[in-house]
Amino acid sequence: MAFFTSATQSIPSAAEIPKHIAIIMDGNGRWARKRFLPRIAGHKRGVETVRDLVKQCISLKVDYLTLFAFSSENWRRPSEEVSFLMGLFMDALKREVAKLHQNNIKLIMIGDRSRFDAALVAKIEASEQLTANNTGLTLTIAANYGGRWDILQAANQMQLAAPQLAGHYQEDHLTPYLSMNYAPEPDLFIRTGGEKRISNFLLWQLAYTELYFTDTLWPDFNETAFNLAIESYQKRERRFGRTSEQLSEPNV
Ligand code: IPE
Ligand code: IPE
Ligand code: MG
Repeated sequence: MAFFTSATQSIPSAAEIPKHIAIIMDGNGRWARKRFLPRIAGHKRGVETVRDLVKQCISLKVDYLTLFAFSSENWRRPSEEVSFLMGLFMDALKREVAKLHQNNIKLIMIGDRSRFDAALVAKIEASEQLTANNTGLTLTIAANYGGRWDILQAANQMQLAAPQLAGHYQEDHLTPYLSMNYAPEPDLFIRTGGEKRISNFLLWQLAYTELYFTDTLWPDFNETAFNLAIESYQKRERRFGRTSEQLSEPNV
């Protein structure tokens, strides 16, 4: 398997469509509250946003779309909301996977599955297997995911695989064990819903990602809002520690 090395070693041009977009889909609850609806109504509408966004990513030829659906901290929510979200995840898989497959999308779930019930784990595994050989958009859903959990589980695997290197590990020893070892690091990070924080999403992989925060609530994050995020990205200059002048020189 070919692993991606850190994006900090080569400079992807920001003028292009980002290859990998990672999104914290936030604001479902507030969207519902504004309409005097229960929070779960916002989550339901949020699924529609995901469906539209996937279509836009296909037409823009984005290679990787990674969505934060449930954090390792979201178990702290009221149990009825947690159960509803688990049910919604299961329903969405049942309803959408055949369509994802028809559209040549590869679906991958990252996160700790040990707290999910057996039926959900089986559905996730079947969905991943069905779409494993697809070559279009790679859609990653982060569920019961935490960036610290990811780094720790990778460190533990690395230590078991190469105990003789203890005390001398390099970044490249760790990265093959991170959950997203199949993807380059995100070029663009988007968080909807107004909060300006990472909330334990991809901590290692976001080191040099361009960050974009918008007040738009997730159910309202339509094509126009998505295009604004991409336009903002395309105006950025990605330097990865270098100076602006160096970027115009060959072979930096
Ligand atoms: C994001 O929306 C969805 C999940 C975390 C599952 P929220 O449910 O966090 O919505 P707000 O932040 O309360 O508006
Ligand atoms: C982050 O949203 C996680 C997901 C979108 C799945 P939250 O709404 O749970 O984030 P915090 O806790 O307010 O930072
Ligand atoms: Mg929230």
